[in-house]
Amino acid sequence: MMQHSPECTLEDEQVSVMKMIANDIKKRVPIDGTFPSEEIQPPTIGENSHCDKESTKHVDAFLYDNKKLDELIENGEVINIYCADCLSENVRQYNIISHSLSLSAVLYIFHSVLPSLEGKFVLDIGSRLGPVLYGAYVLTSAEKIVGVEMNKECCLLQRDIVNKYNMEDRIEIVNKRIEECPEIVQTSDVIIMNNPFEFYAPESVHREIWKFLIANIQSSTILVTKPSIETIFKNLKIGSASKWVKFYEPKKTVDEFEIFGSVAVESAEHEDIKFYEVLKPQRDN
Ligand SMILES: C[S@@+](CC[C@H](N)C(=O)[O-])C[C@H]1O[C@@H](n2cnc3c(N)ncnc32)[C@H](O)[C@@H]1O
Repeated sequence: MMQHSPECTLEDEQVSVMKMIANDIKKRVPIDGTFPSEEIQPPTIGENSHCDKESTKHVDAFLYDNKKLDELIENGEVINIYCADCLSENVRQYNIISHSLSLSAVLYIFHSVLPSLEGKFVLDIGSRLGPVLYGAYVLTSAEKIVGVEMNKECCLLQRDIVNKYNMEDRIEIVNKRIEECPEIVQTSDVIIMNNPFEFYAPESVHREIWKFLIANIQSSTILVTKPSIETIFKNLKIGSASKWVKFYEPKKTVDEFEIFGSVAVESAEHEDIKFYEVLKPQRDN
């Protein structure tokens, strides 16, 4: 945890570090916040299957919060409508999606819902620009925070940030596919998955990765997922989630609305982030 000066609160300092990191990253990635090497593939099944390349824009929610996005649209830096047939006033709104969690979402996870992570191992599957890693470092006492990310450019960026902010003592970045890291999955107490595979793998690979995860995640592990495991399992036809996980009951009261430093954290805004505890394997009689 961070030391803070008497003039500002610890929360102010934590938010300020996260915002400084976001500003550093903005200088390295375009407004759409994706690297050409990411090879984003629009999903063909599920709730996001309408997000094809023609009708969808990516604006990174860690780098640009909702207020900033409105400003970008207002001053024309992000065009959010397109003409569907080039002749008429038949204009449509682009789907605007983010492949990163916002700062508010990171605060919701680590401050509002999860318990103390002292001595725990945290894993972010597909750490991308790294907001989950930096958030876990700044907001918790987790002993070890690992980001497994298959994209080399993203890993280089994360390593530069980790070095600049002296976070090497607790953050480790592994440039591999998660399927190559069973031991990391098996030893993690908390695993964060912000839709890591849907836009990055075809359906068949997506299904195989989940089979690998189910085989390797240990009982009692806390999973934080977006979207819900029920939605993912239904779309991929993997079977019943209730045999594998139960909803995690927060050990503290989760406020509906809270201001953390200068950031508003509203539970309703993050209701698509779900928390689970992995059950002990069931023995067949
Ligand atoms: C939606 S982004 C999540 C970013 C980050 N966790 C966050 O919440 O801000 C998904 C990331 O997962 C990575 N990814 C996808 N499949 C992967 C795999 N099999 N192993 C490791 N990383 C993977 C992608 O390269 C991408 O950077």
